[in-house]
Amino acid sequence: MITTTSIDKKTSKKTQYEVLLAQVKSITAGESNRIANLGNICALLKYEMNWFWVGFYFVENETLVLNTFQGTLACTRIKKREGVCGKSWGENKTIVVSDVNKFEGHIACSSITKSEIVLPIRDENNNCIGVLDIDSEFLNTFDIEDKLGLEQITTFINSIL
Ligand code: SME
Repeated sequence: MITTTSIDKKTSKKTQYEVLLAQVKSITAGESNRIANLGNICALLKYEMNWFWVGFYFVENETLVLNTFQGTLACTRIKKREGVCGKSWGENKTIVVSDVNKFEGHIACSSITKSEIVLPIRDENNNCIGVLDIDSEFLNTFDIEDKLGLEQITTFINSIL
């Protein structure tokens, strides 16, 4: 059985992300199935960090298609440059949105989401092949430390796909 120690929210974000990365490595060690690993990564991130929604979209026929996720129902397809996910894919960079209502073209899968971060998932040539989307029910949840910490996690995810 996989067990993880809960992240101490009283420690710095840097420390929390170090623990989270170690957990991601630990729960995927020895497993090569992509769905199994991505599904467990979504569960780990959502329940360790108490985020509202965590999920992956992957590019299929020039559209982002919903993949493994944890949370409420979500839009299944997103076009390039549409919404936060489509922008992250189109620009191949992390997008932090502190207030989704101020982001032009935001795709509201749930009215509960108030802020979000979307990070590219890349192949070995650095092309964006999908995104990791994380939504929070609070404003201003994600800052530069979350961006850096999560980018270390997506760099690891890229290496196991
Ligand atoms: N809000 C995202 C859409 C995906 S859902 O939040 C799960 C966007 O604007 O791209």
